[in-house]
Amino acid sequence: MDHFVYQNGVLHAEDVPVPEIAAAVGTPFYLYSTATLTRHFRLFDEALDGIDHLVCYAMKAASNQAILKTLAALGAGMDVVSGGEYARAKAAGVPGERIVFSGVGKTEDEIRAALTGGIRQFNVESEPEMEVISRVATELGTVAPITVRVNPDVDAKTHAKIATGKSENKFGIPISRAREVYAHAARLPGLEVIGIDVHIGSQLTELEPFRLAYRKVAELTETLRADGHEITRLDLGGGLGIPYTRSNEAPPLPTEYGQLIKDEVGHMGCEVEIEPGRLIAGNAGILVTQVVYLKNGEGRDFVILDAAMNDLIRPAMYEAYHDIVPVVEAAPGVDMQPFDIVGPVCESGDTFARQRPLAPLELGDLVAFRSAGAYGAVMSSEYNTRPLIPEVMVNGDRWAVIRPRPTFDDIINRDTIPEWL
Ligand code: LLP
Repeated sequence: MDHFVYQNGVLHAEDVPVPEIAAAVGTPFYLYSTATLTRHFRLFDEALDGIDHLVCYAMKAASNQAILKTLAALGAGMDVVSGGEYARAKAAGVPGERIVFSGVGKTEDEIRAALTGGIRQFNVESEPEMEVISRVATELGTVAPITVRVNPDVDAKTHAKIATGKSENKFGIPISRAREVYAHAARLPGLEVIGIDVHIGSQLTELEPFRLAYRKVAELTETLRADGHEITRLDLGGGLGIPYTRSNEAPPLPTEYGQLIKDEVGHMGCEVEIEPGRLIAGNAGILVTQVVYLKNGEGRDFVILDAAMNDLIRPAMYEAYHDIVPVVEAAPGVDMQPFDIVGPVCESGDTFARQRPLAPLELGDLVAFRSAGAYGAVMSSEYNTRPLIPEVMVNGDRWAVIRPRPTFDDIINRDTIPEWL
């Protein structure tokens, strides 16, 4: 459920008509709903009621300071994957003890910054990384709390580019080697081994892969305890999928996911962390864009928008489906026609949808891409020197620009010219 609904035929974000924002900000832009972000965070938090837990928002999904502050005020922790994300989380006021550091290639500088600024734990991805964390912590005269990310060799049944839990993927250490790796960790100075981490992929639309993975984690907890390790925290990753089409998809609900967690690991006496990103931010954001041209091609009609693949890369990169809706609803009974919905960038990959049935559009009409809140703005670029598009947030009847559109000068002046030119 989200808070982008039609009122009198006009799409609203909470209580604000979308055309009002478009007129003030210009198109294209991302638009987030505070109420939806809040609702989705609470769904997870409540689903884990009754067990000691922390919901660490995977901020890679959408990392604007305003989004982080909204979630942090509700008690969210953050899952960060880079020094930049760590700095962003801190800038948004998230205390170090609520920040977990994931990511396959943490550099020495990133590790040092997190140890200096405060960190809840590092989710370690390999033995070489473990050794670097040990060395940096020892140099700083501190102790780094760590979990080790295990790769449970489970098929997440999602798009290949976002599946992470099979042994051929680059993530974590093979679960079969866990005892060895934990023994190694216990011998290293500057480390405090506190738990186990697992994350098997993103946009999972079935619970079964989670169940298989979490069962393996519960078994491993017992094994490692028997080996003498104190396992007090389980980080179960993110990945719960969202409905991208409103009709035929019904991924499991956070309540069902929470129940599964309780069933599989609730009895282990561990604090549980989860790292959802997409389910919190995905349906809390839309991309608003405008029709710049209509073009009749050979056997197909194109709608050319002012948004492009650089603004929302998911369709080009993952063949992702996003619902595309007119901001002003078509009159009832209007015939739908198939359109190819494209951006202005000079590659055929700049296609958002092929032969998508839509009510006929006119030049200047506003359209919205739904479910664009996660992995939308954060994956955008300035390809073709198209400025990063603004982000806007609504809260009831209020709205604010939370990242302005840069000017061409802002972009150009970032380049520096060598003295010989
Ligand atoms: N934890 C870890 C260690 C992760 O790698 C990820 C996502 C998450 C949590 C959050 O997963 P979520 O709850 O959002 O599914 N750009 C892709 C998605 C990449 C996901 C990467 N890792 C997309 O647009 O579909």
